[in-house]
Order: sequence, then C-alpha cells, then structure tokens
Amino acid sequence: MQQLEDDKPKKKVTLYLLFCVSTAVIGSLQFGYNTGVINAPEQKLRGFFQNVSMERYGEPFSPGTNTMVWSFAVAIFSVGGMIGSFSVGTMVNTFGRRKSMLLSNILALVGGGLMGLSTLSQSFEMVIVGRLVIGVFCGLCTGLTPMYVGEISPTAVRGAFGTLHQLGVVIGILVAQIFGLEFLLGSDSLWPLLLALTVVPAILQSIMLPFCPESPRYLLIVLNQEEEARKALVRLRGSEDVNDDIQEMKEEGMKMALEKKVTVLEIFRSQNYRQPIIIAIILQLSQQLSGINAVFYYSTGIFDAAGVTQPIYATIGAGVVNTVFTVVSLFLVERAGRRTLHLIGLAGMAICALIMTISLSLVKATPSLSYLAIVGVFGFVASFEMGPGPIPWFIVAELFSQGPRPAAMAISGCSNWTANFLVGLGFPKLEELCGPYVFLIFMVLLILFFIFTYLRVPETKGRTFDDIAQGFAASAGKSSPSAAPESVMVPLPDGKEPAPMSP
Ligand code: GLC
Repeated sequence: MQQLEDDKPKKKVTLYLLFCVSTAVIGSLQFGYNTGVINAPEQKLRGFFQNVSMERYGEPFSPGTNTMVWSFAVAIFSVGGMIGSFSVGTMVNTFGRRKSMLLSNILALVGGGLMGLSTLSQSFEMVIVGRLVIGVFCGLCTGLTPMYVGEISPTAVRGAFGTLHQLGVVIGILVAQIFGLEFLLGSDSLWPLLLALTVVPAILQSIMLPFCPESPRYLLIVLNQEEEARKALVRLRGSEDVNDDIQEMKEEGMKMALEKKVTVLEIFRSQNYRQPIIIAIILQLSQQLSGINAVFYYSTGIFDAAGVTQPIYATIGAGVVNTVFTVVSLFLVERAGRRTLHLIGLAGMAICALIMTISLSLVKATPSLSYLAIVGVFGFVASFEMGPGPIPWFIVAELFSQGPRPAAMAISGCSNWTANFLVGLGFPKLEELCGPYVFLIFMVLLILFFIFTYLRVPETKGRTFDDIAQGFAASAGKSSPSAAPESVMVPLPDGKEPAPMSP
C-alpha cells in the first residue's frame, strides 16, 4: 500500500474530479444568478404589475399596493430558500446526493417556466409563485452543492474546492447584473426571458450529472456499498490505489455505526454536536448579518446616496471585485487556513463599514467623498470574499461527520436564509431610521463575530472529517448517549489499528 512520505495529505486532482465538481457548482451559479437577477428589472416588473391591474380591474394599483406586490416577489425567494435548505437533510437521506441534485432541477424548470410565461398569461402571481419555487430550488442548492463537493474532494484541497461554491455564486450574481442591463435582457420586453434563463443551467446540469458518481462517502458509510464506493473513488482519484481514502471513511463509519442518521433535534441534544452546531450557525449568521446583502440588494441606492453619477456601473464594479476576491480566497484558503481568513475578512469588513459611514455622512458637505464611499463598498465586498463569503458554506460539511452532516447542513443553511431574509426585509427600514449611520450596526455585529471566531472556531485545514469530529468529542469531555461512541475502536480490515486522533 502506498504510504505517505510525510504527514501532508495528498492532492489528487484529476480532470474527472474537476468535471464532477464543476457539474455540482452549476447549482451555486443558479443561487447567485437568482439572487442578483431581480434588482435591475425592478421598474419593469413594477410596470407589469400595473398593466395587469389595469387589465383586470380597470385601474392601476395604488403605489402602496404596487410596492407590496414587488417586496413580496423579492422576499418570497428567501422564504423558499429557508424551506429548501431545511429540506436538504431529508432529501439526501432519501435519495442520496447525486439524485437529489438531479431532482432539484425540476424546480428550476417549473420556477423559470412560471416567471418566463408570466407576461403571456398576464399574471403577476406567476412571478411570485415562480420566485418561491426558485427560492426552494436555491435553498436546496446551498446545501447539496457544498455537501457533494466536500464529500468527493481529497482532504488537501477540500477548502479550495469548497470555495468554488462561492465562486459559482459570485459569477452567477455578476452574470445576472450584466444580463440585466437595459440594452441586454433588462428591457421591457425581455425581462421575462432574463428571469427564465435559469432553466438553461438546470438542463445542462441534468445532462452532466449522470456522468458523475454518487458520493463515495455516502455509498460506503451510509449504504455500506464498498465496491461501488471504491469504483467511484478510483475514477475520481485517477488511481487504483484508493485504500487510504477507503480506510479513512471506514474509520469514520465505524465510529458512528450506532448513530447513522441524526435528526435535527438530536444534534442539539448531543453534547458532541452542540459545540459544532453553535459554531456552524454563528458562522452562517456572521455571513449574512455582516450586511453583505444590504450592498448586493441595494447598492445602486447606496451609490446614489453617495453622489456617484453612474450607480449601476459602480454596482457592476462591486460584482467584479466580488469575483476577483473570491478567486484570491480560493488560492489562500489551503495556505492561510479557514479561521485566519475568516478573521481577516470580518476585521476588513468592520473597517470598511466605518469608512462607508464616514463618507456617507460627510458626502453632502464634501462631494469628493463619494469616491471614498466607492472604496468603502469595494473594500467591504473584497473583505467579505476573503472569508465570510465562502467559508461558512463549506465549513459546516467539515465540522460534522457523515451521520449528523445532513441535519447540520439543514439547520445552518436555514439559519443563513433566515438572516438573509431579515436583512433583505429590514435594511430599507433601518436605513430610513439611521440614515448614513446604518452601517455602524453591521460594524458592531462584525466585531462581535470576530471575537466569537477568535475564541471558538477551530482550524479545519488539512484535517480529515473524522479528526475534526473527534476534536469536538474530546473537548465535550465525555460522549453523551446519542453521541459518537469513542470507545468503538474496531480494528481495520487489513489488521491495522485505527489511526490515533489528534484533538
Ligand atoms: C454568499 C451569500 C449570499 C451573498 C453572496 C454575495 O454566497 O450567501 O447571500 O449574496 O455571498 O457574494
């Protein structure tokens, strides 16, 4: 059996592995596209709602009703996201990882179809229901993609591949911002097409998925199909020698033999999972309550308030900075580690929130400060993508072993979407109340999240899933009845003792 020369985990990146990861990441692209797509055509959609009202009731909606219908169409996406993300656990336990991704694409076809046909049917309800269905789909994507990618990736590149989820998201947002320009698809006649375009990646992913294997960890640990798992691994790693991987999965599987599927309630009850689930939830909250979507949903208004003359292009600029810094993070995450990058990102965001506050509050007196506002927003976005953007999405898969992972992804994903919903809904009101000082609220939250991360979040870089879980079990002191039994140290098939676990 091939032995490692040193303690460094092997990096076995094959073209086939890249193909499978790219296929999964189409789901991330979908999440980003549908997050970003609704902003540019706001006025067109509002106009359509008025048309429908005229046709049906002979008069336009009152401005209040129009705003209500519009806000509903925007916010219902996150409600769908909460439902979808919370269903991830049940879905993967029933259908497995790959089939779940395949099935979720049906939702993209239905949602995209409804929105695309809304003008033909003169129905604004179809836009709203379509957004809900697409939200459920995106909620599923935010759980399914990081889980599948985390499970098929070799340990040494799990962080970099995990960051590809966020790269898919930011590219999706950027594409949506660009396609949404008036002279492209953001026009009066073409906006339904802009919203319906989500069906294209759904079809593409459905064609590619059958060529990807089911997650070998799922095959071996959950279904106990060693031969199938081995076959999948041989293809993914491009080598016949996959014993190290198989052995590592078996160790993990044997230790949790008594707790195959863990429910949402059990996660909170078990002492071993309490610490990682709190960390997972707070990391997700740190992502959303950092205020990032206040920028992505309302940046055009923020730039406008800062006196920027072409706010739409500043918004696209933010999308470009967003993408560039996700790539930077991709290269740093296996060197600097998750914890360090998350800390750097939170600190940078807090400083930029202060810069934004200063420039927004003084711009009336000193118009040239509008440039400082742009610097503040771009720095805010860049810092976000260093850590708080990508890391929470994939670290949850790392903090839990196979048994509790689906339930943990469901809980943390749903926390993320709920916070996303609250910021989306609450920011305009907060801005009204606090004016240029609104970003100070996020600054305070960012400082609190920084302190929490500094004190409580462990580094997961280069460690196996099992090792990380063992670290939490050790620090929980003793295992509770439903927790992983540490005493199950079954000898491995080739006669080896299980590797000692570092805390
Ligand atoms: C993350 C967030 C998402 C946000 C995006 C911005 O993926 O989950 O809400 O819009 O980053 O890049």
